[in-house]
Amino acid sequence: AGTDNGGNEGGSDVITIGFSQVGAESDWRTANSESMKSTFSKDNGYDLIFDDAQQKQENQITAIRNFIQQEVDYIVLAPVTETGWDTVLQEAKDADIPVIIVDRMVDVSDDDLFTAWVGSDFELEGKKACAWLNAYAEAKGMKEVNIVDIQGTIGASAQIGRTKGLEDAAKEYGWNLLASQSGEFTQAKGQEVMESMLKQYDNINVVYCENDNEAFGAIDAIEAAGKTVGPDGDILVMSFDSTNAGLTDTLSGKIILDTECNPLHGPRVEEIIKKLEAGETPDKLAYVDEEIFAHGADVASVTVDGKDYAVTEVTEDVI
Ligand code: AHR
Repeated sequence: AGTDNGGNEGGSDVITIGFSQVGAESDWRTANSESMKSTFSKDNGYDLIFDDAQQKQENQITAIRNFIQQEVDYIVLAPVTETGWDTVLQEAKDADIPVIIVDRMVDVSDDDLFTAWVGSDFELEGKKACAWLNAYAEAKGMKEVNIVDIQGTIGASAQIGRTKGLEDAAKEYGWNLLASQSGEFTQAKGQEVMESMLKQYDNINVVYCENDNEAFGAIDAIEAAGKTVGPDGDILVMSFDSTNAGLTDTLSGKIILDTECNPLHGPRVEEIIKKLEAGETPDKLAYVDEEIFAHGADVASVTVDGKDYAVTEVTEDVI
């Protein structure tokens, strides 16, 4: 150890990492925390200080300040929202502690406030999902698309990108985007929001849930209202993440499309840290490749910004 980039300059064998995690709002998040914990284990030569911010930015800022006081070798931040990080990241920079951003992005005045980022292209996820819906609606002869958006946490990259994908597509394809409201990426809020949308609109035929847990809540609300989900039902449920439970619902058709968001960032963050330890410069931004999982084989592939993406039909083998 010992680099010009801050990091484990004392050269001790154990690398101390302070990880500020968003919370435990979803199955995706649980898988993400697991990936970080198993990668940065004592057996692998790390001391991981894990802080769960319970979806609150102020908790994340406090955690980062504690990590600075504890003089950790690296700070890893999974930011709840994009903005509001300049001051605390400047404090980390002044303390010469490299900051790695993971999953969602930060919107800062100076990109030198963080060392590297790895995560998903959330707008691309949204575009892929909407390109699929357009092709599916054509294949099925759907006369109109009356869609509602159960958004993620407002201001999170995952919400901003996925919502933008839908809003642009609704304009392009002439869909009726009836309502948009945050379900905070949780099952309980997803259910609550869907219940109220169903009371307001009786013509919803697609719900665009910005993650799997919201989709589970939305399905419960739809069924409790006496309506059905699925390819032959009243409402198509679209989702993001492709967790095991999400893909199980995609197999049955309860979820019609589940666009992947990959949570297994532990090894990716470790690769960045290993490069820094070796005195190398990691890529500033690294986007993860992600798949598209559908119920049925009605749409084989979609084209987004001139690039083709295969659509995988979910079978028992895929889950
Ligand atoms: O930032 C990734 C998103 O956050 C996932 O889609 C969601 O499930 C999680 O809570």
